[in-house]
Amino acid sequence: MSEARDLLGRYLRQRAELGDAELVLERHSTADVRGLLSTHAPVTRTSLTAGLSPDPSRAVDAPAAAPAGRGYVRPGRPSAEALSVDSTRATGEGAGSGGRTIPTVTLGEMKPGVDAPARGATADEILALPVLDAVRDTALGCPRCGLAKTRRHVVFGEGDPSADVMVVGEAPGADEDASGRPFVGRAGKLLDLLLASVGSPRDSVYICNVLKCRPPGNRNPAPDEVEACSPYLLKQVELVRPKVILAFGNFAAHTLLGTDLSMGKLRGKDHAFRGVPVIPTYHPAALLRNPGWVRAVWDDLQRFRAIAARA
Ligand code: URA
Repeated sequence: MSEARDLLGRYLRQRAELGDAELVLERHSTADVRGLLSTHAPVTRTSLTAGLSPDPSRAVDAPAAAPAGRGYVRPGRPSAEALSVDSTRATGEGAGSGGRTIPTVTLGEMKPGVDAPARGATADEILALPVLDAVRDTALGCPRCGLAKTRRHVVFGEGDPSADVMVVGEAPGADEDASGRPFVGRAGKLLDLLLASVGSPRDSVYICNVLKCRPPGNRNPAPDEVEACSPYLLKQVELVRPKVILAFGNFAAHTLLGTDLSMGKLRGKDHAFRGVPVIPTYHPAALLRNPGWVRAVWDDLQRFRAIAARA
């Protein structure tokens, strides 16, 4: 029992450290939670993963819907109010809560020396996470760059978590920000067609972006945003272990290949990221604007198809 309380305490401190604003709990009173949060145990790397074991009832990499019920952590920024408690609010959203009234606790600003600051996970901490679900949970509350303030949803990525093919795009747009899913707008529809045309339909691949949050107004990702977000992409590649990566657009290609060469110079040549072949090609959104690039993308996809067939 005390082990379970220790675990819960570590979990709560970890969620607070990652910037989660609110927890919905069924089995613990708010007094319990206050007590657990005020223990002084340091937040260690191991504690980052404690309590984040995958929920077997949830698809490993389902879209970022908002499940409710026991242990659901609502991502968000800590409110200014330390530990404000609302034990009357019904959490009617999502499957499983059935609109029941269950206790909630809002994690407020951390007291120095008592609770860890809400700085989010460091790159090393993200890189040490053992499973995709833990990386996803960490990303969903990520405060590592300014986009945390403007996003509606973190768009972590989705698809077959053991896919042979990984598709990497640039960043969520408005449709993706609204839905929490990658490539669901116009460019996404074209991407679906392109993938299907080379025998790798969307549901057979893993799709993600360099940035997990939408840059306001769809501006280009800023270098500090790419840097802050890249541990998530790195970890996705490491855990999915694709046999080939399709990099759509300059940002995906530049981030994976560590170059700023133009797509015209990059495409059609052999590249790899950590030993995984990378096929850079034009972004579907660019293709919608420049239909003249269809032939080039088609050629790149044939190269992709040949590599995927050998993988
Ligand atoms: N463009 C991207 O690069 N990614 C998306 O998810 C949507 C549009």
